[in-house]
Amino acid sequence: GVTRHYKFNIRMRNVTRLCETKSILTVNGKFPGPRIIAREGDRVVVKVVNHVSNNITIHWHGIRQLRSGWADGPAYITQCPIQTGQSYVYNFTITGQIGTLWYHAHVSWIRVTLYGPIIILPKRNASYPFVKPYKEVPIIFGEWWKADPEAVINQALQTGAGPNNSDTFTINGLPGPSINCSSKETYRLRVKPNKTYLLRFINAALNDELFFRVANHTFTVVDVDANYVKPFRTDTIFVGPGQTTNVLFKTKSLFSNDKFLMAARPYSTAAAGTFDNSTVIGVLEYDGNTSSSSSNIKALPLPSLPAINATAYVANWTSSLRSLGNSQFPVNVPRTIQRRFFFAVGLGTSPCPVNQTCQGPINGTKFKAGVNNVSFTMPTTALLQAHFFRRSNGVYTTDFPTTPLNQYNYTGTTPNNTMVTNATKVVVLAFNTTVELVLQGTSTLGAENHPLHLHGFDFFVVGQGSGNFNSTADPPKFNLVDPVQRNTVGVPSGGWVAIRFQADNPGVWFMHCHIEIHLTWGLRMAWVVMDGKLANQKLPPPPADLPKC
Ligand code: C2O
Repeated sequence: GVTRHYKFNIRMRNVTRLCETKSILTVNGKFPGPRIIAREGDRVVVKVVNHVSNNITIHWHGIRQLRSGWADGPAYITQCPIQTGQSYVYNFTITGQIGTLWYHAHVSWIRVTLYGPIIILPKRNASYPFVKPYKEVPIIFGEWWKADPEAVINQALQTGAGPNNSDTFTINGLPGPSINCSSKETYRLRVKPNKTYLLRFINAALNDELFFRVANHTFTVVDVDANYVKPFRTDTIFVGPGQTTNVLFKTKSLFSNDKFLMAARPYSTAAAGTFDNSTVIGVLEYDGNTSSSSSNIKALPLPSLPAINATAYVANWTSSLRSLGNSQFPVNVPRTIQRRFFFAVGLGTSPCPVNQTCQGPINGTKFKAGVNNVSFTMPTTALLQAHFFRRSNGVYTTDFPTTPLNQYNYTGTTPNNTMVTNATKVVVLAFNTTVELVLQGTSTLGAENHPLHLHGFDFFVVGQGSGNFNSTADPPKFNLVDPVQRNTVGVPSGGWVAIRFQADNPGVWFMHCHIEIHLTWGLRMAWVVMDGKLANQKLPPPPADLPKC
């Protein structure tokens, strides 16, 4: 591979959306941020320079960071933030991943405008295991608040209540004609007839999983989270925050009607009003049409999307995803498991501090979220530094509970076990440990789907189901033949999912719900993977410019 150099200047810039202009954080003045394009095997070197007053880190979401954990990016996990006027060089090699990943800021809620695509092409002289696309187009979903998103989250944390919903979803940064004066801010995908496009979808929204469809057209899914899958046809894709989906998109030969609407809308089983249930639309426009009219796009038919709470559709989507699994791309799912974990993930509460009024659930508590009733407290120094220099004392403890402290009916309807304890606890894994992790969604405050993201690994999704996981009946049904490999998986609303990975990457690896409010409430933890014995099984020392806390 070659080395590709990028420079990211983080600057403020005025941007107008929904008829209001505001100053936002951008990479090089662009929103969404610029593309990173590389081939499998290439080294990517990005110098990030902070010209703003916020603390900044950038996470390369889904990049495995094999023995390059110092470049992973989550604030206070692998690094301290880059402060105003400072810079940091992220340096990593892309190993065994082809498809779409993305980058985003990983401090507080500033990823709302700091994100962009990472396009990973096959090695030079290698080709896709499908028809060569005529063109490749990244399509990124996002969210937009008229208010300052930092103010939105700070207010939520103070009151203990849920945050205000965003004002609109966006497609490549554009809200579409959701209000009259915003119709100029509509994403338009211009295509030629009879061509096959590769569309690269990224869900960069903060708090919503999305369905997406283009009227009168279908997709062939070929890759998720930079892993090839067995191709399958669908008219609607489902993509959770953090996830990516590549599809082949064949345009039609007839274009008597040269415009079609595309639309995205959330999937959620949360209470109505607690999430933005609006629809964002864009336009598919055929080229070379003589009857090209500037017809009012609002008059075009909307593609019909699954119901907001279509849990069965989502379960079916997840089980349709299978690794491609051929001789060139074998499926190396761990078969002998050395460590098994059971994590109950969901929302919860913590008591309201004295002399404060809290507006959270259950008699004025504060909203929290956790794993096995632990709400992870962010440290004030980076865990990876504490681990590497053996200064973990007072930073974290290694007693993360590997099963819930008391068993209960996780999908029961009576709220129970809502209280969490706040602590910075990790799980320590010996190098190369094979891990099986069952993630059980809890219904302590209503069942919701949680897109769980693991840094530093691609894991295999070996099973999923509804209700409570049954440790006798369910494991024999696991798919060890062609399970999909990815970095973010939805823990089903009122159900469970089982994943496997091999801890072959020394470092400290964050795992969290990619719904930003759940992450903020504490639905997060970290794995410490120890060095192996051989020189090439150890994490090298940090680069000299690693930011200090
Ligand atoms: Cu895309 Cu820790 O996140």
